[in-house]
Amino acid sequence: MKRLLIVANWKSNLNRQEAGEWIKRFTNYDLRFTSKEIIVCPSFVYLPILKSYILDHKSAIKLGAQNISSFGEGAHTGDINGEQIKEFADYVIIGHSETRKELNETDEMLKEKVSEACKNNLNPIYCIQDESTLIPDGVKIIAYEPVFAIGTGNPDNPEDANKVGEIIKSQREVDLFLYGGSVIAENVHEFTKMPEIDGVLVGGASLDPHKFAEIVKNA
Ligand code: PGA
Repeated sequence: MKRLLIVANWKSNLNRQEAGEWIKRFTNYDLRFTSKEIIVCPSFVYLPILKSYILDHKSAIKLGAQNISSFGEGAHTGDINGEQIKEFADYVIIGHSETRKELNETDEMLKEKVSEACKNNLNPIYCIQDESTLIPDGVKIIAYEPVFAIGTGNPDNPEDANKVGEIIKSQREVDLFLYGGSVIAENVHEFTKMPEIDGVLVGGASLDPHKFAEIVKNA
Protein backbone atom coordinates (compact mmCIF):
# COMPACT_ATOMS: atom_id res chain seq x y z
CA MET A 1 0.00 0.00 0.00
CA LYS A 2 1.34 3.46 -0.84
CA ARG A 3 1.99 6.10 1.78
CA LEU A 4 -0.79 8.72 1.79
CA LEU A 5 -0.50 12.19 3.28
CA ILE A 6 -3.62 14.22 4.00
CA VAL A 7 -2.75 17.82 4.78
CA ALA A 8 -5.09 20.48 6.17
CA ASN A 9 -4.09 24.03 5.27
CA TRP A 10 -6.21 26.32 7.42
CA LYS A 11 -4.67 29.44 5.88
CA SER A 12 -5.59 32.58 7.89
CA ASN A 13 -8.82 31.12 9.30
CA LEU A 14 -10.36 30.14 12.65
CA ASN A 15 -10.09 31.93 15.97
CA ARG A 16 -8.60 30.44 19.12
CA GLN A 17 -11.85 28.93 20.33
CA GLU A 18 -12.64 27.45 16.92
CA ALA A 19 -9.16 25.96 16.63
CA GLY A 20 -9.59 24.32 20.06
CA GLU A 21 -13.03 23.00 19.10
CA TRP A 22 -11.72 21.71 15.78
CA ILE A 23 -9.02 19.55 17.31
CA LYS A 24 -11.42 18.20 19.96
CA ARG A 25 -14.05 17.28 17.40
CA PHE A 26 -11.60 15.91 14.85
CA THR A 27 -9.89 13.61 17.33
CA ASN A 28 -13.34 12.25 18.25
CA TYR A 29 -13.60 10.65 14.82
CA ASP A 30 -12.23 7.19 14.99
CA LEU A 31 -9.22 7.51 12.76
CA ARG A 32 -6.92 5.56 15.07
CA PHE A 33 -6.49 2.68 12.70
CA THR A 34 -5.92 4.62 9.54
CA SER A 35 -2.49 4.31 8.03
CA LYS A 36 -2.98 7.66 6.32
CA GLU A 37 -0.76 10.38 7.70
CA ILE A 38 -2.65 13.46 8.85
CA ILE A 39 -0.95 16.83 9.00
CA VAL A 40 -2.67 19.97 10.23
CA CYS A 41 -1.22 23.37 9.33
CA PRO A 42 -2.87 26.10 11.44
CA SER A 43 -1.82 29.73 11.81
CA PHE A 44 1.42 29.99 13.80
CA VAL A 45 -0.37 31.25 16.93
CA TYR A 46 -2.35 28.01 17.29
CA LEU A 47 0.59 25.61 16.89
CA PRO A 48 1.29 25.50 20.67
CA ILE A 49 -2.39 24.86 21.53
CA LEU A 50 -2.68 22.04 19.03
CA LYS A 51 0.67 20.61 20.01
CA SER A 52 -0.33 20.30 23.69
CA TYR A 53 -3.67 18.77 22.76
CA ILE A 54 -2.00 16.21 20.50
CA LEU A 55 0.56 15.28 23.16
CA ASP A 56 -2.06 15.05 25.94
CA HIS A 57 -4.30 12.83 23.81
CA LYS A 58 -1.52 10.76 22.28
CA SER A 59 -2.85 11.55 18.83
CA ALA A 60 -0.91 10.60 15.70
CA ILE A 61 -1.74 13.91 14.02
CA LYS A 62 1.34 15.83 12.91
CA LEU A 63 1.62 19.58 12.69
CA GLY A 64 2.90 21.83 9.96
CA ALA A 65 3.53 25.57 9.65
CA GLN A 66 2.29 27.56 6.69
CA ASN A 67 5.52 29.48 6.15
CA ILE A 68 9.05 29.88 7.47
CA SER A 69 11.58 32.69 7.60
CA SER A 70 14.27 32.59 4.97
CA PHE A 71 16.70 33.61 7.75
CA GLY A 72 17.90 32.04 10.96
CA GLU A 73 17.63 33.71 14.37
CA GLY A 74 18.25 37.44 14.39
CA ALA A 75 16.98 40.90 13.54
CA HIS A 76 14.11 39.95 11.23
CA THR A 77 10.99 41.60 12.59
CA GLY A 78 7.83 39.62 12.00
CA ASP A 79 9.62 36.45 10.90
CA ILE A 80 9.35 33.03 12.52
CA ASN A 81 12.45 30.93 12.06
CA GLY A 82 12.96 27.22 11.57
CA GLU A 83 14.36 26.61 15.04
CA GLN A 84 11.24 28.17 16.57
CA ILE A 85 8.90 26.21 14.30
CA LYS A 86 10.69 22.94 14.99
CA GLU A 87 9.53 23.04 18.63
CA PHE A 88 5.96 22.57 17.44
CA ALA A 89 5.86 21.19 13.92
CA ASP A 90 7.43 18.58 11.65
CA TYR A 91 6.36 20.03 8.32
CA VAL A 92 6.23 23.41 6.65
CA ILE A 93 4.35 24.55 3.57
CA ILE A 94 6.66 26.56 1.33
CA GLY A 95 5.88 28.44 -1.87
CA HIS A 96 2.09 28.42 -1.77
CA SER A 97 0.76 30.58 -4.63
CA GLU A 98 -0.84 32.90 -2.05
CA THR A 99 2.46 33.64 -0.28
CA ARG A 100 4.32 33.86 -3.57
CA LYS A 101 1.89 36.56 -4.65
CA GLU A 102 0.95 38.39 -1.46
CA LEU A 103 4.40 38.30 0.18
CA ASN A 104 6.29 38.67 -3.10
CA GLU A 105 8.29 35.50 -2.55
CA THR A 106 11.00 35.01 -5.14
CA ASP A 107 12.64 31.73 -6.19
CA GLU A 108 15.75 32.84 -4.30
CA MET A 109 13.78 33.42 -1.07
CA LEU A 110 12.01 30.09 -1.46
CA LYS A 111 15.34 28.34 -1.88
CA GLU A 112 16.51 29.91 1.40
CA LYS A 113 13.28 28.85 3.10
CA VAL A 114 13.79 25.25 2.01
CA SER A 115 17.36 25.38 3.23
CA GLU A 116 16.26 26.78 6.64
CA ALA A 117 13.59 24.08 6.90
CA CYS A 118 16.05 21.29 6.10
CA LYS A 119 18.65 22.69 8.52
CA ASN A 120 16.03 22.35 11.27
CA ASN A 121 14.77 18.92 10.23
CA LEU A 122 11.45 20.27 9.05
CA ASN A 123 9.98 18.59 5.98
CA PRO A 124 9.12 21.15 3.33
CA ILE A 125 5.82 20.62 1.50
CA TYR A 126 6.81 22.56 -1.57
CA CYS A 127 3.98 23.96 -3.67
CA ILE A 128 4.32 24.12 -7.41
CA GLN A 129 1.83 25.73 -9.72
CA ASP A 130 2.72 23.63 -12.77
CA GLU A 131 5.46 21.31 -13.95
CA SER A 132 7.72 24.23 -14.87
CA THR A 133 7.89 25.70 -11.33
CA LEU A 134 11.47 25.72 -10.06
CA ILE A 135 12.03 23.22 -7.23
CA PRO A 136 14.96 23.78 -4.85
CA ASP A 137 17.27 20.95 -3.78
CA GLY A 138 16.24 19.22 -0.58
CA VAL A 139 12.53 19.08 -1.42
CA LYS A 140 11.06 15.60 -1.04
CA ILE A 141 7.36 16.41 -0.81
CA ILE A 142 5.76 18.35 -3.62
CA ALA A 143 2.22 19.69 -3.73
CA TYR A 144 0.90 20.46 -7.18
CA GLU A 145 -1.62 23.27 -6.78
CA PRO A 146 -2.81 24.82 -10.04
CA VAL A 147 -3.97 28.38 -9.29
CA PHE A 148 -7.26 27.97 -11.17
CA ALA A 149 -8.26 25.16 -8.81
CA ILE A 150 -7.58 26.88 -5.48
CA GLY A 151 -10.73 27.86 -3.64
CA THR A 152 -12.82 27.78 -6.81
CA GLY A 153 -14.71 24.50 -6.56
CA ASN A 154 -13.10 23.68 -9.90
CA PRO A 155 -10.46 20.99 -9.27
CA ASP A 156 -7.97 19.89 -11.88
CA ASN A 157 -8.76 16.73 -13.71
CA PRO A 158 -7.18 13.78 -11.82
CA GLU A 159 -5.56 12.41 -15.00
CA ASP A 160 -3.89 15.74 -15.69
CA ALA A 161 -2.71 16.03 -12.08
CA ASN A 162 -1.33 12.50 -12.30
CA LYS A 163 0.52 13.43 -15.49
CA VAL A 164 2.22 16.33 -13.68
CA GLY A 165 3.24 13.86 -10.96
CA GLU A 166 4.67 11.54 -13.58
CA ILE A 167 6.72 14.33 -15.14
CA ILE A 168 8.04 15.60 -11.80
CA LYS A 169 8.93 12.11 -10.57
CA SER A 170 10.74 11.36 -13.83
CA GLN A 171 12.85 14.51 -13.39
CA ARG A 172 13.87 14.28 -9.76
CA GLU A 173 13.84 12.16 -6.68
CA VAL A 174 10.59 12.87 -4.87
CA ASP A 175 9.15 10.94 -1.92
CA LEU A 176 5.59 12.16 -2.22
CA PHE A 177 3.58 14.04 -4.81
CA LEU A 178 0.39 15.67 -3.51
CA TYR A 179 -2.49 17.36 -5.27
CA GLY A 180 -4.25 20.48 -3.93
CA GLY A 181 -7.11 22.63 -5.21
CA SER A 182 -10.83 22.23 -4.38
CA VAL A 183 -10.42 18.80 -2.82
CA ILE A 184 -13.54 17.64 -0.98
CA ALA A 185 -14.76 14.33 0.48
CA GLU A 186 -16.63 13.58 -2.74
CA ASN A 187 -13.65 13.90 -5.09
CA VAL A 188 -10.62 13.02 -2.94
CA HIS A 189 -10.46 9.38 -3.99
CA GLU A 190 -10.44 10.34 -7.68
CA PHE A 191 -7.04 11.86 -6.93
CA THR A 192 -5.58 9.46 -4.37
CA LYS A 193 -6.37 6.42 -6.52
CA MET A 194 -4.02 7.79 -9.20
CA PRO A 195 -0.67 5.97 -9.22
CA GLU A 196 1.51 9.10 -8.95
CA ILE A 197 -0.60 10.99 -6.39
CA ASP A 198 0.41 10.31 -2.79
CA GLY A 199 -1.96 12.58 -0.96
CA VAL A 200 -3.80 15.88 -0.93
CA LEU A 201 -3.48 19.40 0.42
CA VAL A 202 -6.88 20.65 1.51
CA GLY A 203 -7.81 24.28 2.13
CA GLY A 204 -11.46 25.28 2.50
CA ALA A 205 -12.82 21.80 3.21
CA SER A 206 -10.34 21.29 6.06
CA LEU A 207 -11.91 24.03 8.18
CA ASP A 208 -14.78 21.78 9.20
CA PRO A 209 -13.50 18.83 11.26
CA HIS A 210 -16.32 16.59 10.07
CA LYS A 211 -15.64 17.32 6.39
CA PHE A 212 -11.92 16.84 6.91
CA ALA A 213 -12.48 13.50 8.67
CA GLU A 214 -14.60 12.40 5.70
CA ILE A 215 -11.76 13.37 3.36
CA VAL A 216 -9.32 11.28 5.40
CA LYS A 217 -11.71 8.30 5.36
CA ASN A 218 -12.47 8.53 1.62
CA ALA A 219 -8.89 9.18 0.47
P1 PGA B 1 -8.72 24.79 -1.45
O1 PGA B 1 -7.23 25.29 -1.18
O2 PGA B 1 -8.81 23.36 -0.99
O3 PGA B 1 -9.58 25.72 -0.65
O4 PGA B 1 -8.95 24.90 -2.92
C1 PGA B 1 -6.13 24.45 -1.36
C2 PGA B 1 -4.86 25.18 -1.01
O5 PGA B 1 -4.71 26.35 -1.35
O6 PGA B 1 -3.98 24.61 -0.34
